[in-house]
Amino acid sequence: MKENIGKILNLLRQESDYDFLGCSPEMINRRIEMRITATGTANMETYYSYIESHPEECELLMQSLTIKVSSFFRNPLDFEIINRVIGYLMQNKAEQKEPLRIWSAGCASGEEPYSMAILVAELMSLTPCAVEIFATDIDSEVLERARQGIYKTDSLKEVKYGLLNKYFITHEDRFELQPSIREIVNFSFHDQLSNIKVPSMSIYGNFDIVLCRNVMIYYNSRYQVKMQQRLYDSLNLGGYLMLGEAESILERYQGSMKQVAPLSKIYRKNG
Ligand SMILES: C[S@@+](CC[C@H](N)C(=O)[O-])C[C@H]1O[C@@H](n2cnc3c(N)ncnc32)[C@H](O)[C@@H]1O
Repeated sequence: MKENIGKILNLLRQESDYDFLGCSPEMINRRIEMRITATGTANMETYYSYIESHPEECELLMQSLTIKVSSFFRNPLDFEIINRVIGYLMQNKAEQKEPLRIWSAGCASGEEPYSMAILVAELMSLTPCAVEIFATDIDSEVLERARQGIYKTDSLKEVKYGLLNKYFITHEDRFELQPSIREIVNFSFHDQLSNIKVPSMSIYGNFDIVLCRNVMIYYNSRYQVKMQQRLYDSLNLGGYLMLGEAESILERYQGSMKQVAPLSKIYRKNG
């Protein structure tokens, strides 16, 4: 297996300036495994033959080796819209005495679920309500970083100054999230392509908001269908699905999922 990984990395080196020496072998292994699943090849050996005969796969593998990138309030317009949605849902949930349930699927190092937690914390004084935020990823290394909640300036560019002061502790070039925000988010390992439909610690689906952003773009259409079906099933009626900028709802859901505003990637499940 090591020999095949070496051969694959040699191919990448010929195609790009990046040699991936800085990446951990476990991470490279996991990412190649992900591409093996995404391409439907059986193992390292058949994947190596596949990559040789499909030059575009080199680019996809390179992207997948660097796809852990995330940032707070990525795509600010969508976060402005989801902020209004959260406000409206919190009011309803408070009246119904039920928790608001949010799932960030493919959360990387936590910027996305923590952005949601900050919005919730800001609204909490207006409409106190129980909130549960689950965040999952297939990569244990990024999940560990997420739990620590320490970030560099790169991922904080969209955070408003007031929020930065209120929710982060500054340590020279790093920013540590306040425990009050970290405690709102429950992180765990979950593969969205496994046969378990929702993260096991969340017990049942019944989510009011599901975010799955910049995850599906790395998969072929067969796997995108599988993922979207699960995301759809995990949502309550009237729940919201938030996708990445380059992702869209599949044709089969266009009748039952309505885009909430032009240019946004937020869809409401109507039935
Ligand atoms: C580019 S990051 C997106 C992070 C965040 N959602 C955002 O948009 O800023 C993609 C993440 O999806 C995760 N991922 C890829 N395939 C997955 C799968 N099958 N199940 C769960 N997570 C997956 C990767 O490990 C990576 O952390």
